Amino acid sequence: MPAFEDSDFGVEKPTSAPTGRPQTPRTVEHLQRQIASGSPAKKELSNSYSHTLTVPSGEQEDGTETTIEVPASRSAVAETESLMHPLSISPSMKERRGSRNSFGTSLPIPRTKRQSRLSSVAGPDGRPTRPGMPPIQASRDIISAQLQDLASQKTGAAKDMAFAFDIDGVLVHGDRLIPEGKRVLEILNGDNELGIKIPHIFLTNGSGKIETKRCAQLSKILGSEISTQQFIQSHTPMSALAEYYQTVLVVGGENYQCREVAQTYGFKDIIVPNDIFAAQPTISPLKEFFTDEQRRTSNPRDFSKVKIDAILVFSDSRDYATDLQIIMDLLQSENGVLGTRAKDPVSQRIPIYFSQGDLLCPSEHPFPRMSQGTFRIALEAIYKQVTGVELERVVYGKPELATYKYADEVLASWMDTIHGEEKLPKNIYMIGDNPQSDIIGGNMYGWNTCLVRTGVYQGEGNDDENPANFGVFKNVLEAVQTALKKELGEDFKCEWSDAMNPVTGSHSVSAIE
Ligand code: G3P
Ligand code: MG
Repeated sequence: MPAFEDSDFGVEKPTSAPTGRPQTPRTVEHLQRQIASGSPAKKELSNSYSHTLTVPSGEQEDGTETTIEVPASRSAVAETESLMHPLSISPSMKERRGSRNSFGTSLPIPRTKRQSRLSSVAGPDGRPTRPGMPPIQASRDIISAQLQDLASQKTGAAKDMAFAFDIDGVLVHGDRLIPEGKRVLEILNGDNELGIKIPHIFLTNGSGKIETKRCAQLSKILGSEISTQQFIQSHTPMSALAEYYQTVLVVGGENYQCREVAQTYGFKDIIVPNDIFAAQPTISPLKEFFTDEQRRTSNPRDFSKVKIDAILVFSDSRDYATDLQIIMDLLQSENGVLGTRAKDPVSQRIPIYFSQGDLLCPSEHPFPRMSQGTFRIALEAIYKQVTGVELERVVYGKPELATYKYADEVLASWMDTIHGEEKLPKNIYMIGDNPQSDIIGGNMYGWNTCLVRTGVYQGEGNDDENPANFGVFKNVLEAVQTALKKELGEDFKCEWSDAMNPVTGSHSVSAIE
């Protein structure tokens, strides 16, 4: 597998190994001694405890106390910080490297153009559609082709720019449309003075459904057809892992739809936590219910005879207790066989991958909700506390370099689809709402970055730690219009008109500066 160099991240190599990583594998005896003497982190933290949490007063109006205030015997301050891999939590661009992974970690991505099994470009009648393009209007196509010929410099500039859109917090909030998102797609799909398709892809840390289903859902919300050929979810590049692992535990997603995602990616033997619970209910004593439907869709078998090669967290866990328990069992097992315990917890540990690392996600709720990153941090903390060993794991998704490299592949391929030229446009604009994911990743990859205030980021000026290099905008429409003006001229019109007929009309396209 290819390993990325530090220089890929634009950083200098630290002189010693990143703190928190085990320098040498620890023995089970060593771990048992640590566990017997208490948390390995206890000593480090004992001096820094401070008790600042107050409980509501139980005093009544007549001055009598209704509750007794018992002093906490442990700190109210979370113990996790000192346990975390430093790359997991540092919010500052100065202190972090635009990656949540250890130096030298490799993240395979599909090598070639997107494979046909991920794509769906057939219309409802089964005939191929023109992905990302409005329905065929012969006369308009002819006119716009003539216009593009006449305005060749501007047409060239339009094909030499592209947008990469974050989805949640930029175009939609969950299933709710952000209205400016709809208009933006109309403009880029041809409602502009040249009638030209301006290249754009979707680069989301969203997850949990197969690409065809998610594209169909988004096309409906946004009112423009979105093709799987221009669409990257957090787990999309993880299809490359199917070459490396035979049997995988796939975690997360509504109703374990991630099983279907893994099937689409070509994984051969896919297990989800419900399969294990159905075979062995005592594995998760905290699980409260297991519906008939869940039982019916589970594939129980004798897991003591199954060697699981890797754990893939594709989406948000719907049952933290069960998923964390089963993952912990597997991480401590001997080479991925449930019911065993590894003699060496490091060399016999199977790998674990996360499709993205966002802590928070905007949703219909007034405040952002927990995302996959919080699940990972919980797991890292539990793993470190129980075993004394730092959990090594791989995180895909923005701002990971592998995800941006994959975006280049997809963009070049999409250019081929819409303009018959498989090349990467020069001026790429990332539009996102999360400085710690969209913006830092785009900045480090040399893209223009636009931060919008419709999602996670609500600040006034630019973000202090990870400033967007092209600026901060009220919404996605403002960002796209500003970028179009920069590349195609101040007067570029974001509207098509049939009066633009170069033969009969009186119009001329705007001049490029
Ligand atoms: O963090 C969860 C995910 O839904 C974020 O998606 O589109 O903002 O990258 P997006
Ligand atoms: Mg977002």
